Amino acid sequence: MKKILVVGYGSIGKRHVENLLSISNLEIIVCTKRNDVKKLKKHAKVYRTLKQCLKEKPDMGIVANETSLHVTTAIKLANEGLDLFLEKPLSNSLKDVEKLHTIIKKKKLITQMGCNLRFHPCIKKIKSMVEQQKIGKIISAQVQTCSYLPDYHPWENYRRGYAARKDLGGGIILTQIHEIDYMYWLFQEVENVISMSGKFSDLDVDVEDYAASLLKFRNKIIGELHMDYFQRPNFKSCQIRGTKGEIYWDSDNNCVNIYNMNKKRWKREMEVKNYQINFSYVEQLKHFLQCVKQRKKTINDLEQGIVTLKIALAIKKASKLMKTVNV
Ligand SMILES: NC(=O)c1ccc[n+]([C@@H]2O[C@H](COP(=O)([O-])OP(=O)(O)OC[C@H]3O[C@@H](n4cnc5c(N)ncnc54)[C@H](OP(=O)(O)O)[C@@H]3O)[C@@H](O)[C@H]2O)c1
Repeated sequence: MKKILVVGYGSIGKRHVENLLSISNLEIIVCTKRNDVKKLKKHAKVYRTLKQCLKEKPDMGIVANETSLHVTTAIKLANEGLDLFLEKPLSNSLKDVEKLHTIIKKKKLITQMGCNLRFHPCIKKIKSMVEQQKIGKIISAQVQTCSYLPDYHPWENYRRGYAARKDLGGGIILTQIHEIDYMYWLFQEVENVISMSGKFSDLDVDVEDYAASLLKFRNKIIGELHMDYFQRPNFKSCQIRGTKGEIYWDSDNNCVNIYNMNKKRWKREMEVKNYQINFSYVEQLKHFLQCVKQRKKTINDLEQGIVTLKIALAIKKASKLMKTVNV
């Protein structure tokens, strides 16, 4: 039986373990310093250190600890030849990223970034509509991701979580890198960015809680990206304008609509009723396991994770310098 190691048993680590239990018959090993793991021990081997976990000779690894620890952890696992599912964002800096990349290439490991929005049925639909040029040549896109940080983990003090802390790789830009990732997926390479970001709300954090950014893609598309930590209820949206029409989706309705300029009317292309957020997490895990089995490149490998991280870091730098920054 193949073995999978999950590093980090916080909110997302727990979700991955539960999903693995429901979709696979893999042997699960968990690396965590938590003490409340009695229930978990019924389904998995649990150790406090990576060294102990690696003695079990796992075949694959899921890196689900705090953002600032992803790359160091991934390097240790890659050195042991584990295929890797890496939670987003890849890191909070480029430190050792190339080192990880070199090991991955040398050992021909399968990698996947945990950007589950690529598995959201509406975002997938938008991707196919863009590819089919349903609204002609795309000119611009407005993307929003709005959430309220204290609602992320209501069971803990939000000030202590990674998302609120600079030292652990927090901030809205890195934490909600999902939107940067799918904009890159839809519109490809980014040439340069400008941004204004900072702490604007009353939240008690030392990271940016708001970022308003412009991304200029190499194909001349302009992306307007709004990200915030202070809005309730949660809201995500994507509006794409082209020479022949418009595409619109938002998380409230979970419908993808298209406006046809010639016919002068909106048409519903897709409607997802009762969308369960866990669906996209399950789909992305299934994709990773399938790609590992077939030794096939995933939809979002380490190389794409590096590009997305570079875009996010350029946004942070542009805001700090108040200048346009090339990616
Ligand atoms: N793809 C997504 O949609 C998604 C969603 C959420 C998070 N993430 C990413 O995944 C990473 C982890 O996020 P998270 O939300 O899982 O963070 P989290 O819940 O704060 O967990 C992070 C770490 O904190 C420790 N921890 C959490 N609760 C604990 C408790 N009650 N007692 C002791 N230790 C505890 C765990 O350490 P141990 O390592 O010792 O177990 C865990 O690995 C971040 O990089 C984040 O960006 C991705």
